[in-house]
Amino acid sequence: MAEVTVSEPIAADTARWAAELGAEAFAMMSHRELGKLVPPAEFERFRRLWDDLELDPVLPGGGQYRLRRYGRLLAEAKAGSYRFTALPHVPFRQDAEHIPDYGGRPRTFAPIPDETLLSPALTSLVAVDLALATTLTPADRWIVGLHMIRVVAKAGAPGQATPEGRHRDGHDYVGMHLIDRRDCEGGHSVIYREGRPTVRHTLATALDSLIVDDDALTHEVTATVSAGPDAVRDTLLVDLNVD
Ligand SMILES: [Fe+2]
Repeated sequence: MAEVTVSEPIAADTARWAAELGAEAFAMMSHRELGKLVPPAEFERFRRLWDDLELDPVLPGGGQYRLRRYGRLLAEAKAGSYRFTALPHVPFRQDAEHIPDYGGRPRTFAPIPDETLLSPALTSLVAVDLALATTLTPADRWIVGLHMIRVVAKAGAPGQATPEGRHRDGHDYVGMHLIDRRDCEGGHSVIYREGRPTVRHTLATALDSLIVDDDALTHEVTATVSAGPDAVRDTLLVDLNVD
């Protein structure tokens, strides 16, 4: 199986983000730091992959505003580095308890090609998420789910990143990385503690990111509203689960 090894990231703010995640159960990561991990040319190549997603076939109400791909990695921590192995493509499934809309049914999305799963941009971002998660949950094998998602808004037809509303996803941690945001308003990330909104934050610039302890908090993203002809919000979502 295809695999790649990535040295653990040395982002100046990693220790602070880990402390925030430990104290608050979420951490906000700035593009200023994360941008240093991905060279601009590499990031530009990565960003363009969001032009090649496929329609989410099972949106509630038959909505056509969300496009996506899905893939999985095995991550093994070893002496300051992570070995990532691309795993076979399988349908994505969430418990009905967490996301009732789909009744626990598996959802089949277009696959993320192995070369994208193992790309420097994607694995660098996942390595940061893992570095933060493992400070709270010291495990050396993780199953990582990757979702490349584009939400499209049109005049009079908002886009919904989370049509299910406030939710938890049923993972140990969830990383949310903004890849692009054009011509849209809204799309605010809201984090809830004990059902009450505690933070409202906008991932505004590419690579602005969030990580949440999915057991501890719930979250949602408000609708995106078109403010121009090309209103899209592109994200990479990272599901982290101890193997
Ligand atoms: Fe979510």
